[in-house]
Amino acid sequence: MAIQFNFVSSMLILLLLTISSAKAQKVSRGGGGGGGIIDVVAKFGAKADEKTDLSKPLLDAWKEACASTSPAKIVIPKGTYFLSTATLEGPCKAPIELQVEGTIKAPANPGAFKEPKWIAFSKIENFKLSGGGVFDGQGTIAYKREGCGKNNFCGSLPINLRFDFLTNAMIQGVTTKDSKQFHVNVLGCKNITFEHFTVSAPGESPNTDGIHIGRSDGVNVLNTEIKTGDDCVSIGDGSKNLVINGVTCGPGHGISIGSLGLFKNEEPVDGVTVKNCTLTNTSNGVRIKSWPGAESGTCSNIHYEDITVTNVSSPIIIDQKYCPWNKCKINEESKVKLSNISFKNIHGTSALPEAVKIICSATLPCENVELANIEITHSGPTGPAVSQCSNVKPKVSGKQNPTACSTPVPANPTPTT
Ligand SMILES: *[C@@H]1O[C@H](CO)[C@@H](O)[C@H](O)[C@H]1NC(C)=O
Ligand SMILES: *[C@@H]1O[C@H](CO)[C@@H](O)[C@H](O)[C@H]1NC(C)=O
Ligand SMILES: *[C@@H]1O[C@H](CO)[C@@H](O)[C@H](O)[C@H]1NC(C)=O
Ligand SMILES: *[C@@H]1O[C@H](CO)[C@@H](O)[C@H](O)[C@H]1NC(C)=O
Ligand SMILES: *[C@@H]1O[C@H](CO)[C@@H](O)[C@H](O)[C@H]1NC(C)=O
Repeated sequence: MAIQFNFVSSMLILLLLTISSAKAQKVSRGGGGGGGIIDVVAKFGAKADEKTDLSKPLLDAWKEACASTSPAKIVIPKGTYFLSTATLEGPCKAPIELQVEGTIKAPANPGAFKEPKWIAFSKIENFKLSGGGVFDGQGTIAYKREGCGKNNFCGSLPINLRFDFLTNAMIQGVTTKDSKQFHVNVLGCKNITFEHFTVSAPGESPNTDGIHIGRSDGVNVLNTEIKTGDDCVSIGDGSKNLVINGVTCGPGHGISIGSLGLFKNEEPVDGVTVKNCTLTNTSNGVRIKSWPGAESGTCSNIHYEDITVTNVSSPIIIDQKYCPWNKCKINEESKVKLSNISFKNIHGTSALPEAVKIICSATLPCENVELANIEITHSGPTGPAVSQCSNVKPKVSGKQNPTACSTPVPANPTPTT
């Protein structure tokens, strides 16, 4: 009886499996207005041979998927591909997903690019990028900055991934590696989430910011690991309602807002929460920077909470005298107004004594700054950790090590980058 039952149920399962695999096959043919799954190798002749350009097969697949009136998914299967450059543009007729399982490599030669982008996603609604794959920008040659003067490409090195004007997008479980310039640039997006995202580049790679965000509303960076040569996350003007949670950063320059106040007509930065993040061996922890003199702007409602710093040079830093390369009039004051900023539960070790530095503008002092439960230690011949403040009267609560605002600010603070 039991055997018979098992036999019958096995047959039933087999039958069900047959039906569902037939369905899957039908789906995998995709095409027409029907959406479904589009395999760039099977359908558009892409080759995982590291030399055939993936550009045309990918653009052909995109054209078909984007025209589909039902949800469509493009799959780039496992294997290593070469891609010269590609811009995948909407609007599309239905939700669209790009599932990258393979590794895609960029041209190593920085002179191969006419525009500062490698792969760009533009004007798409309901977009998903997934698949566990790798976008390898092959930046090693570019990092050497050889022949910059002669070829003049160094000012416009390509960004690995650009997300321009996307609405409701999810970037999940993919890696960007060795970009020649910023790894990711987010511009003009509404509701975009990076989750289980990975950025990987050497600590010595110049200008390779992990994720740069500007002019966007509702950006989430969650459970993401960033190792790079510049800011792990950098936040430019016009960023609103950002949540950064579960980011590990290092090597890198930390999580930075700014620099602000360099250009005319900058939009406010409003609403940034950085929570549950870990920074190791970075030059900064959490930072806000603005240029002396120059242009006006505002930055408000910025909250840092539950941050662990290990061997970080400047764990907590507001720097309104940000002036690298002497590109400003250092004696002028910043015209960027900072307000409603809190630092709560920030602990760990500092690589330099100046663990807390809050240097605000004399003409527009920082308003409503809060320090709660700060415990950052420094050990070494340069003495214990110190806390420096100017043009700010922070509200202080909980433990404070170093004692808040206990040390005078030197007349000429060391410039940071
Ligand atoms: C934000 O985008 C996600 C897709 O990543 C979507 O599931 C969610 O509904 C969107 N939220 C809003 C408020 O539109
Ligand atoms: C904190 O971040 C870690 C990743 O570093 C993540 O796994 C965890 O879920 C986060 N916790 C909360 C409460 O968001
Ligand atoms: C930090 O630097 C130390 C010394 O160079 C190294 O041993 C450690 O692995 C680094 N940690 C990270 C997370 O990079
Ligand atoms: C601290 O970080 C610096 C790089 O910023 C590194 O050279 C040094 O070895 C690190 N020290 C420890 C103890 O990890
Ligand atoms: C600062 O916070 C207060 C109280 O939450 C709020 O009323 C005010 O509008 C905020 N300021 C700015 C510039 O957002």
